[in-house]
Amino acid sequence: MISTNKIYTTIVIAVFTVLLSFQSYSQNWDIPANKSSKNSYIPFNNETAKAGEAIYTKNCQSCHGNPGKANSLKTLKPVPPDLSEKQTQSRTDGDLFYIITTGRVVMPSFKIVLSEEERWKVIAFIRSYNKSYVQVLSKTDPSKSKLVKIVLDFNAKNNKIRVYAKANEASGVVLLKDAEIMLFANRYFGKLQIDKTLTTNSEGYADFNFPKDLPGDKTGNIDIVVNVNDELYGEIEHQEKLNIGIPTDKPALNEQRAIWNTLLKAPIWIIVTYTSLILLVTLVLLYILNTLRKLKKIGDK
Ligand code: HEC
Repeated sequence: MISTNKIYTTIVIAVFTVLLSFQSYSQNWDIPANKSSKNSYIPFNNETAKAGEAIYTKNCQSCHGNPGKANSLKTLKPVPPDLSEKQTQSRTDGDLFYIITTGRVVMPSFKIVLSEEERWKVIAFIRSYNKSYVQVLSKTDPSKSKLVKIVLDFNAKNNKIRVYAKANEASGVVLLKDAEIMLFANRYFGKLQIDKTLTTNSEGYADFNFPKDLPGDKTGNIDIVVNVNDELYGEIEHQEKLNIGIPTDKPALNEQRAIWNTLLKAPIWIIVTYTSLILLVTLVLLYILNTLRKLKKIGDK
């Protein structure tokens, strides 16, 4: 038989292990290698650092304080690091971009709040506190992303979606090689990633395995979202409806009569009860009025 003592010891050890793992968690960010090596296409200079300072003052200072002044908000757990310190400065630009983009628990995600350009400018400001920092500029030219055309081709035989990425340059069509591609299906609540993140081959395409049993709308349509990330052309998003899902004839939640629906689609019993009550009240009122009228007549006589 297991003694109570043993159980207590096990619980105490388990609690400490969890606490310790939280401790190390506050230092290490799990950053995918391809995100970590990402560089900025915005040059870090006085001008961009100054623009970044304004963004920092508005969005970051309340927690992180002024870089170099060790005045971050100490009441938070974990304490937001002073971003001029070695811990932060030893990270790659891609790491910083990833951290600012995704956030974690107390550290907010700025993916929607700040544009990609603004996020790089904040990093330009953070880097201005590091005298030994030398920037590696990315070759990305985001203005070129408009030239990119994404084409989807579904193969019913093997249930694969082939995603082509090509750019219509003035000099001709350029195939995007080694571009990172993510495929999603729009669902009621958010996006479902299809297969894993793939990279285009030397012919500028990648093949995604599509699930055979994914429900679509009444006619089997599914909204597909493609995210392409190319070293030169930057980030491109493409949306398209494909008729490759299982047709589902389930009426939407707001199509049926239900308590939560609009007046016109309320359940019959509610409409009947409500109407009869109103009728009843009206009848009682009419009866009272009529009685009053009779009383008045008697009084007049
Ligand atoms: C609500 C408070 C809060 C705000 C606002 C905030 N941060 Fe943070 N930030 C934190 C906390 C807390 C951490 C530590 C998170 C952890 O380690 O889990 C952190 C961590 C970081 C790190 C990683 C530091 C390191 O080297 O470990 C960076 C970089 C960073 N923040 C940048 C920013 C930038 C840039 C902004 C503004 C655009 C910002 N933060 C806004 C709270 C905040």
